Amino acid sequence: MQKILIKNIKGLVQAGEDIPLIRKGKDMQELPIVKNAFLYLEDNEVIAYGKMDDWKEIGSSSDIEIIDAEGCFVLPAFCDSHTHTVFSKTREEEFVDRIHGMSYEEIALKGGGILNSAAKLAEMTEEELFNSAQERIQKMIACGTGAIEIKSGYGLSVAAELKMLRVIKKLKATNKIEIKATFLGAHAFPLAYKENHRGYIDLIIKELLPLIAKEELAEYIDVFCEKNYFSVDEMAEIISAGKEYGLIPKVHVNQFTILGGVKKAVEMGALSVDHLEEIDQEDILALQNSNCMPTFLPGCSHFLGIPFGAARKIMAADLPLALASDFNPGSAPNYNLFTIWSLACIKMKMTPEEALNALTINSAYAMGLQGTHGKICLGSKAPIILTKAIPSLAYLPYSFGEVNVSRVFI
Ligand code: NIG
Ligand code: FE
Repeated sequence: MQKILIKNIKGLVQAGEDIPLIRKGKDMQELPIVKNAFLYLEDNEVIAYGKMDDWKEIGSSSDIEIIDAEGCFVLPAFCDSHTHTVFSKTREEEFVDRIHGMSYEEIALKGGGILNSAAKLAEMTEEELFNSAQERIQKMIACGTGAIEIKSGYGLSVAAELKMLRVIKKLKATNKIEIKATFLGAHAFPLAYKENHRGYIDLIIKELLPLIAKEELAEYIDVFCEKNYFSVDEMAEIISAGKEYGLIPKVHVNQFTILGGVKKAVEMGALSVDHLEEIDQEDILALQNSNCMPTFLPGCSHFLGIPFGAARKIMAADLPLALASDFNPGSAPNYNLFTIWSLACIKMKMTPEEALNALTINSAYAMGLQGTHGKICLGSKAPIILTKAIPSLAYLPYSFGEVNVSRVFI
């Protein structure tokens, strides 16, 4: 058995036996920190933690690896509840097109964007896709990510969507961290179906969903509800078909346009509504008294130069919110959640504590891991981050671009 004692921890963050499943509104400012603490793990299960004064009770045995964490913080690993980690090639040519003045929409309309990624993915084998995603996941873990949701949606055909989802299933089986799979066949209309939406929606509902259910390839169903993509009615039809197969909705809404998708998704029991660069009072009303987690993706706002989510407005309405990377080759080629933490503080005016709640317990909720992930408590086996020696917790989002991780326990 592997026994690890981390002692002299400057701050043990989000640790306790009564950490709530989510924090919302004003409570997002709350973040428990045990100062001068210890944490004792057996095979990465939390067996004991507390003030340094109490650590002697464990005794000192020669087979314990003792880590002196003087000046360091220990925190629960981040949960990344929205990613597109399985993809083919990167798309820096579109990045350059945008510098020259083209918009994301214009690039997509000339065949770039999601369709560009789908064309490239069609040429890749399952093995190539798996290997590249596996490499990305190891980098994500090294940056402190301890649970990842991954979407399909760069397939857009029966064969290629299944290929993506099978890759995600294999990633689940070969990684120790929790990985959740989301079916996003409704990410864009393939060229052949541009004028035949009915045909593609039928393909999703009649051909893909039964196969996905049979092979148990997904937990969630997603739709990109947006102008030039899927309408609110189309989203509703696809979500309701997905629900028949036990898939829980988690959707892309309000990235560029408010179409009324938030209200519809909430009514249909969405676990989360993601993006929300645009949001109005009606959306906020729909979210109040619901169990749906609004999720912001500041990496996408930053990369595309579109508005950042109105986090303060959401919290002022006594709502919770989660933060995620949206890691993908088109709108957010960044998986480092320390960067997301910084952007949330700098651009969305969230305090370091609020943003960390959004990256831990609230994002755990947004991927069905509430209660087990995003916190440190007795019996937990969820991943944990040991930082480098740093002056304060706020230094982590302050030192933007730096990854102050010394070790991740998985
Ligand atoms: O979440 N907006 C839809 N999907 C992705 C971007 C997809 C792409 O450009 O490849 C997103 O931003
Ligand atoms: Fe996305």
